[in-house]
Amino acid sequence: MDSKWKTIMIIFIIHGLLETQAGSASPRDDGTSDQDLCDAGWTRNGNACYQLVESTVNYTTALDACRNLNDYGDLASVADQDESNFTLALLRCTFDTNYYWIGFNDLDEEGTWAWTDGSVSSYTNWYSGEPSGGSDHCGVLRRSSDGTWYDAGCSSTYGYICKYPLNTISCAEWKRKGYTSNGYYTIDPDGRNNGVDPYRVHCDMTTDASTGITTFEHQEANRSLVTGAEVAFSFVRNITYGDKSVDQVATGADISGECYQYIKYECHHSHLTGYTAWYDRDGKLKNYWGGATVDSGQCACGISGSCTNGHPCNCDTNDNTWREDSGYLTDKTSLPVTEMRFGDTGSTSEYGYYTLGPLYCKGDESFLVTGRTDFMFIKERHLSGYNNAVLSSITVEECATACVSASSFICRSFDYTPSLSKCHLSGENDLTVDPSSDPVHHLFVRIMDRIEDPFTGE
Ligand SMILES: *[C@@H]1O[C@H](CO)[C@@H](O)[C@H](O)[C@H]1NC(C)=O
Ligand SMILES: *[C@@H]1O[C@H](CO)[C@@H](O)[C@H](O)[C@H]1NC(C)=O
Ligand SMILES: *[C@@H]1O[C@H](CO)[C@@H](O)[C@H](O)[C@H]1NC(C)=O
Ligand SMILES: *[C@@H]1O[C@H](CO)[C@@H](O)[C@H](O)[C@H]1NC(C)=O
Repeated sequence: MDSKWKTIMIIFIIHGLLETQAGSASPRDDGTSDQDLCDAGWTRNGNACYQLVESTVNYTTALDACRNLNDYGDLASVADQDESNFTLALLRCTFDTNYYWIGFNDLDEEGTWAWTDGSVSSYTNWYSGEPSGGSDHCGVLRRSSDGTWYDAGCSSTYGYICKYPLNTISCAEWKRKGYTSNGYYTIDPDGRNNGVDPYRVHCDMTTDASTGITTFEHQEANRSLVTGAEVAFSFVRNITYGDKSVDQVATGADISGECYQYIKYECHHSHLTGYTAWYDRDGKLKNYWGGATVDSGQCACGISGSCTNGHPCNCDTNDNTWREDSGYLTDKTSLPVTEMRFGDTGSTSEYGYYTLGPLYCKGDESFLVTGRTDFMFIKERHLSGYNNAVLSSITVEECATACVSASSFICRSFDYTPSLSKCHLSGENDLTVDPSSDPVHHLFVRIMDRIEDPFTGE
């Protein structure tokens, strides 16, 4: 090979490597690669992704490197025993270095240890006699049987552990964060450390200029024939949403501003009312069709009084003319559709076609309610018994403002009770206390700013 071609090939190879790296730092992809919730090179534990870096550098270089690896990356914080076990398991995969930087330091105030990612927890895992103090202001995790921590001089050079949280609740939130390309993103609608696991969904960022649309696909996307089933509700189609559980999809619907799913029955001598139904997220039969009022026992044309022959649905005319009932289901508390059933297709002239669209959900209820991006909304949960202040006759917006401006303590979350217009401010959050379920309270967790780079102030 002549040297000119070698040079060109090397340029192509380097270009390819750079592209791969840039792509791997992105939270979205085209959905054709793996289904990992974390970017390539990162390992998931709970609601965060971690990367162990072997190159040995000082604390500030490690912090900068983690923040450069991912938009939400930071040196790892360790909130509890489970996370401590996980970081130790990560270290067991390597034999290179014995110490790794974590995001703990007391650079601001001697003896007051804080996490660089802004998280708080009462958990520590110091080796006995640590932190030893003096000029050692930066925390390291030692590869040992118990993964205990030591304080070290910040200019020492060690490996390091990076982490980024999976705490984006919806496509709408990704879009507010500046991600405007269509693709697959990881979301966790009910927040970190709580409820359902995070999952990957397709986000449509372009159709609606004002927000992102979360799209839940299922396996029955195509128009399909119904035939050979005479008995009412005897033709059964279960609807599954890929690798996502009904709970995961339902939670995505709960936190959204609005959801809609298209349903259609094209019928030839086949009844709808009394033979055909869709089933809600709890597996309950619903007696109304797309475009009709909830629990009305009708189709869209029944509500507008335009069905053929005054029936509740066009298909109930049950004749040899092709007829159709269709529309959007929009009651997000019963979505997604989990099953469809049909009947009255027993004889050769009786058949139909069903179509069920994906579930689309757009906007976030929390953002619509508060207009703020610095709180994460966790529906129907609260931190029972951890109140630093109680405020009455207050709106949720006013409560958020009160939390951010509280001066006698650091407000990390608040519970809001809409029925009482009451809120409880708390110094704890969902990482320090397990939220309890309660249908009347909603928990708003403040997204704390991360600590500035202690050396450069950036
Ligand atoms: C952490 O690991 C220890 C030792 O293997 C084990 O006893 C403990 O149950 C683990 N804790 C958690 C929360 O996983
Ligand atoms: C860390 O290393 C960088 C690059 O070598 C250097 O600029 C910086 O001052 C060092 N910081 C500390 C705390 O030693
Ligand atoms: C729907 O139909 C298209 C075209 O026939 C096919 O490629 C696709 O696999 C079908 N999808 C499902 C979910 O069956
Ligand atoms: C639908 O799901 C139910 C319950 O999970 C199961 O018993 C049934 O066999 C499924 N039916 C079809 C047609 O897949």
